[in-house]
Amino acid sequence: MPTYNLNVNGQARNVNVSREDMPLLWVLRDVLNLTGTKYGCGIEACHACTVMMNGQPEKSCVVDISSAAGKNVVTIEGLSSDRSHPAQQAWIEHQVPQCGYCQSGMLMSVACAMRAGHHGKEISSEVKNLCVCGTYQRVRDAVAGL
Ligand code: FES
Ligand code: FES
Repeated sequence: MPTYNLNVNGQARNVNVSREDMPLLWVLRDVLNLTGTKYGCGIEACHACTVMMNGQPEKSCVVDISSAAGKNVVTIEGLSSDRSHPAQQAWIEHQVPQCGYCQSGMLMSVACAMRAGHHGKEISSEVKNLCVCGTYQRVRDAVAGL
């Protein structure tokens, strides 16, 4: 089985997978047991599977493990250890989630935009994540202060 090295949430991880084209999302969820990152569509449409890779937002459903090798990956579990990231605090303040399924990807997209130095409406215009529950107004309210 191929073995790949990558850094996930600040830790060096060696993963053995059955195929070099296994999506990073599968590796995170099924190999590393990091189930915070969600599967929605598998075709780059919903952004539920968004993680930060070398500082950029990436849809982990379409990133092969062979492409993720050697990269720094941050998932929702690594955004902060205590929900202290400003986006998480804003989400709590504005009670953004409804069912919650899309929210990991939503928060990671926001965190990536913040890391790029963007604020408020700039972030809102960059975040393309779909939310079946329609939390978009609360997302905009939460992002407005970031
Ligand atoms: S599951 Fe990756 S974009 Fe929808
Ligand atoms: S909170 Fe339910 S899909 Fe977004």
